[in-house]
Amino acid sequence: MHDNIDRLYDQRTSQRWSRRLARLLRPPEPLIGNPREFQIDAPLGRWNLYIGGAAARVDGYINLDLFPLLGVDVAANAEALPFRSAVFQRVECDAVLEHVERPELVMHEIARVLAPGGFAHIVVPFCHPFHEYPRDFRRFTPDGLRQLAGPLEVVAEGWRTGPTATLLVFILEYVKIWLPWRPARAIAHGVLGWLLFPLRYLDLVLLRTPRARQIGNHCYIWLRKSDQHADG
Ligand SMILES: C[S@@+](CC[C@H](N)C(=O)[O-])C[C@H]1O[C@@H](n2cnc3c(N)ncnc32)[C@H](O)[C@@H]1O
Repeated sequence: MHDNIDRLYDQRTSQRWSRRLARLLRPPEPLIGNPREFQIDAPLGRWNLYIGGAAARVDGYINLDLFPLLGVDVAANAEALPFRSAVFQRVECDAVLEHVERPELVMHEIARVLAPGGFAHIVVPFCHPFHEYPRDFRRFTPDGLRQLAGPLEVVAEGWRTGPTATLLVFILEYVKIWLPWRPARAIAHGVLGWLLFPLRYLDLVLLRTPRARQIGNHCYIWLRKSDQHADG
């Protein structure tokens, strides 16, 4: 397994007192989700697929990840999904495409396993620090994300997290670059995270302007497979 995946898994699930305390003191994420992103009528079906949810709870979905960690139902590479075509009503792929070698293959697989009339929700980073889970290959613009849609219809697109999220995550990362000692980085993250997090609400305003795209943090796209779509 990879160090970063191990660490993420440990941070989320370890019952050691030090980890439990760290979870308790952990500052809120500097990211605030765009409320309009979720205004899509795309109900879950009988079968739904969540790609890349290691150590996360994803109720209502089959959780597929590269690694067989807690919470994962199927360990597989999303570039070759081990499912037959046209079975899933919803596919969720949030902050995964930057980690795969061939994102166009993953998108092809998502289009294949979606049931006719089904929806896929894809989220990718645009301005975000380097983070290896287990690798980090690229960033996406909204145009680049739309290009990956292939035969699927684009129903909605926009920013999931905005310019202030970008600013805050980069400030935290910048400060941590100066600190070679891991505990010092953790303390800096905690202190600065608590001090700065209220600023994240500025994105509720900024996400309404088209200029947010200059330094947006993560963008999203909602895709729908047509009712007449042939399998495969
Ligand atoms: C940044 S995390 C995803 C975050 C997720 N949305 C969450 O909040 O838990 C990326 C995840 O994608 C998984 N992953 C990376 N490459 C993959 C691949 N080729 N196929 C399936 N999962 C992959 C990683 O193991 C990791 O769990």
